[in-house]
Amino acid sequence: MKRFDGKTALITGGARGQGRSHALRLAREGADVAILDIAAQVDSVAYPTSTLDDLKSTERELREFGGRVQAIQCDVRDQAAVESAVAGVEQEFGGIDIVLANAGVMASYGAKKHEMAAWDDSVAIMLNGVYYTLRAVTPGLIERNRGGAIVITGSTSSFIGVAYKEEMLNPGQMGYGAAKSGVLSLMRNFAMVLGQHGVRVNTVIPAGVATTMIKNEFFEADLAGDAPGGWMANVMGHGPVEPEEITNAVTWLCSDESRFVTGQSLAVDMGTMLL
Ligand SMILES: NC(=O)c1ccc[n+]([C@@H]2O[C@H](COP(=O)([O-])OP(=O)(O)OC[C@H]3O[C@@H](n4cnc5c(N)ncnc54)[C@H](O)[C@@H]3O)[C@@H](O)[C@H]2O)c1
Repeated sequence: MKRFDGKTALITGGARGQGRSHALRLAREGADVAILDIAAQVDSVAYPTSTLDDLKSTERELREFGGRVQAIQCDVRDQAAVESAVAGVEQEFGGIDIVLANAGVMASYGAKKHEMAAWDDSVAIMLNGVYYTLRAVTPGLIERNRGGAIVITGSTSSFIGVAYKEEMLNPGQMGYGAAKSGVLSLMRNFAMVLGQHGVRVNTVIPAGVATTMIKNEFFEADLAGDAPGGWMANVMGHGPVEPEEITNAVTWLCSDESRFVTGQSLAVDMGTMLL
């Protein structure tokens, strides 16, 4: 018996990076998995967001575990698209047990960071998109009455400021922090209501993770390049971690081992927020 046998999971931003890692782990441990991803460029973002090839190749990898798989091109900024994707997954899989609201962008650096579109996209994807996802899955979770787990991906920016120079007060950076802070409120309120139905809602709080979001020339040049010593340092003196490290925490939050954990933020940050 695998840990997630008989469970179904829906993961936004699942084409690559942390979302892909979470999807693969859940599938390996028995879950049927639906990944949603824009699989296209977000205009205000300097680095490449995922492609259709990313979505298709993750879908192929997921199929190797033998469970049911859906890979859906879906922009979480579009409420109707999120509702339709959720309805399709519920219909095909018979319901959803695990929801990972993970899709995100970092529009904090690069040529368009000073445009208000960078704020709009950040908030639309990482705050509105999370709300649309939680709103869409809530009736099904309650009606199904089988419990469940939701994990929202926050960031150390949910709790601490990171701006070390005036130009970091740009719309992209501020939108990122505002959205990542805002999801804590969504987490607490959904946890209060859904807990009455056995559904737990938590946030995972990564520090640096070695994905395209920070492993790209723009981040290196624009942010990390002139950062003062100690910027985003952590007590363990470790650099960005692999996505699987975040997956370890996320899968625990989705499992019965955390059955009484709800309304919490689980930091996998090597002590970043202690400094
Ligand atoms: N990488 C880090 O250092 C770091 C640190 C803390 C938190 N996070 C958060 O972790 C989450 C996952 O990011 P990652 O590190 O895997 O980066 P990533 O860029 O590899 O993955 C993000 C995924 O989200 C998708 N996405 C973007 N906009 C979308 C939209 N509108 N609709 C649907 N999908 C969309 C992207 O296409 C991509 O596949 C994000 O919420 C991010 O903010 C990342």
